[in-house]
Amino acid sequence: MVVPVGLQRTHFMEFTDIMAKRRSIRAFKSDPVDDAILDELLTLSLESPSSSNSQPYKIAVAKGDVAKQLGAELEDKFWRSNEINKQPLPKKLLSAMTSDALPDSDFKPILGKYPGVFQERRVATGMGLYEVLGIGRKDRKARDEYMAKNFTFFNAPVALFFFVDPRMKHTALVDAGIFMQSLMMAATDKGLGTCAQGALGIWRKPLDKHFKIPHEYKLVCGMALGYPADDKVNQYRPEKLSLSDLLMPSK
Ligand SMILES: Cc1cc2nc3c(=O)[nH]c(=O)nc-3n(C[C@H](O)[C@H](O)[C@H](O)COP(=O)(O)O)c2cc1C
Repeated sequence: MVVPVGLQRTHFMEFTDIMAKRRSIRAFKSDPVDDAILDELLTLSLESPSSSNSQPYKIAVAKGDVAKQLGAELEDKFWRSNEINKQPLPKKLLSAMTSDALPDSDFKPILGKYPGVFQERRVATGMGLYEVLGIGRKDRKARDEYMAKNFTFFNAPVALFFFVDPRMKHTALVDAGIFMQSLMMAATDKGLGTCAQGALGIWRKPLDKHFKIPHEYKLVCGMALGYPADDKVNQYRPEKLSLSDLLMPSK
């Protein structure tokens, strides 16, 4: 492997520590991420495995003014669709036909309530997060305001958007996920924080406005990237499965 310039010099964590340390970061310092560091992280992530080395992904990187504009556009869509969702059914249907705020995600339908145990885990994780943030269970306004922060990338200076060619079917999603994890590990190693954001896959059109995206590529997920702020939300460590829950019993 050709080691990208600077990688050996700046490596400072043991792999086991990186795995244990990485957690979703939802508050960032305003410090920019140096372009050279970003290039290093992405170059290193290109070492990821993919199905027959097909590498069926592309990434749009938003930073500086583009990140600001995109964030404002996505946040505006979030609030307008939120308003539509609160309307009574007939008005909601009418708004749905006339508004450009409704989700135009590439992978439809968007999963609403998760099935079975996954919804239980989702709720437990969400409640744990709100507890850390001091947001009451029934405080819809505060929860919406927190949700809105997703669309300005929790103030991260960099937002990444992951696209795949869907002709590669489910393997494309596996490959993109592996790439994202590589990037999150590499970022943690450099003292950076990340948050994978499915929320950034809800609206596609704002991305087309800022990037030349080949039409066959579909938006899967986003990711916030930057230096973690000293904020209680970043201390949240949701519970993970136990090994016994993970492993299938043998027959
Ligand atoms: C595909 C994917 C999508 C996610 N989407 C969001 C999101 O939209 N907003 C958010 O705050 N966190 C999002 N997360 C972060 C998860 O909530 C987080 O990974 C999970 O709660 C476990 O916490 P940890 O990452 O700190 O271990 C996402 C994570 C993944 C892998």
